[in-house]
Amino acid sequence: MKTARTIVVGITGGIAAYKAVSIVRAFVLNGDSVHVIATEAALRFVGKPTLEAISRNPVHTDLYEGVSEVRHVTIGQGADLIVIAPATANSIAKLAAGLADDLLGNTILASTAPLVIAPAMHTEMWNNPATVANVTVLRSRGITIVGPGVGRLTGTDSGAGRMEEPETIVAVSLAVLDRQASAGEGAASAVPDLAGRRVLISAGGTREALDPVRFLGNRSSGKQGVALAQAALARGATVTLVAANLEVPVPTSITTVLVSSALEMHEAMSLAAAAADVIIMAAAVADYRPKTVQRGKIKKEDVGDTLSLELVKNPDILAGLSAARAPGQLIIGFAAETETDAEQLLALGRAKIVRKGCDYLVVNRVGHASGSTVGFGTERNAVTVLDRHGDIVNEASGSKMSVANCILDLIG
Ligand code: C5P
Repeated sequence: MKTARTIVVGITGGIAAYKAVSIVRAFVLNGDSVHVIATEAALRFVGKPTLEAISRNPVHTDLYEGVSEVRHVTIGQGADLIVIAPATANSIAKLAAGLADDLLGNTILASTAPLVIAPAMHTEMWNNPATVANVTVLRSRGITIVGPGVGRLTGTDSGAGRMEEPETIVAVSLAVLDRQASAGEGAASAVPDLAGRRVLISAGGTREALDPVRFLGNRSSGKQGVALAQAALARGATVTLVAANLEVPVPTSITTVLVSSALEMHEAMSLAAAAADVIIMAAAVADYRPKTVQRGKIKKEDVGDTLSLELVKNPDILAGLSAARAPGQLIIGFAAETETDAEQLLALGRAKIVRKGCDYLVVNRVGHASGSTVGFGTERNAVTVLDRHGDIVNEASGSKMSVANCILDLIG
């Protein structure tokens, strides 16, 4: 059984504070112990009883309460992770300056736990040179900054500054925690090791149109690709996601290009590849597409009892990117196979990495039988990673986030 970790959630005074409740809830449901520190301003936006009920712990605000327990340092000392969501421009400035004029500031200074912050403010405040300089300071200290995304703000306006969606903040936070745990206490490994790296990831499954309403598709949900994007983001990389028909939400702070078919993915990946240091092709791409797409809906009255489809081969995106790679560019492919014999599975992987010409190939078994699916659409995955010589360089099983981190360890 996994042991509960202690996550301190700091909530500062912005309207996005109402979404912090979902973040606290997700950590609690994940089995972690959550302690909320809300600033006075945060409590103008969200009520203490709500936060206490959801976190299942008292919520602290006042620096001068619990003095005999030395609360201003004990909470920080006991934390495995501190997440500040939302982090306002003011709280970011205080963090950059190391101010400790409230309980949250004291807690952060007294803690050696990794820190994840989710900025939320209006675009003008996010772009203000003071905020830009403060965020640069925080990044240089190894603090993980999730978002902000681009989208609707509080009023009628839109732009950069919208707090990243709670699901992504939680996923990135758990990725930071997992890495810290696997590296051992006090290790510096949660420090973003992919800072400055530009990572291009494809995710999801392509759909090949038959007519305006029908397509040939596959069962890929995009979960592994999105987990890779979130984990790379947590490790400081600049991430571009080329997403085909995802069943999971797209993080708003990750540059995302939405595509549907293999040809669209081919175009998007080819365009983005030049600006990438690392390319990960996690998408399930259709090998064939219908030769012609019917203009109107195919009608059984017109077709009769059997319908034959003529399919033509799609470009192999991974093989093309590998052949055209820029010097120093690292390329990782996936091999989703239904082979049940472990040795045969590896043999297929070894042949595939030669054909594809990539640096690493992530081999996993997928299948769908009697309603149960392996690999595709599930929360967990089990993979073996091969290098160009066909040697096993890594084996990982567990949540798609932990598998993502094992894959990213190859490029760290
Ligand atoms: O050939 P196969 O589909 O098994 O290869 C899987 C790998 O190749 C995956 O990384 C997938 O994203 C990629 N692929 C591709 N273009 C295709 C088919 C697969 O890039 N047309």
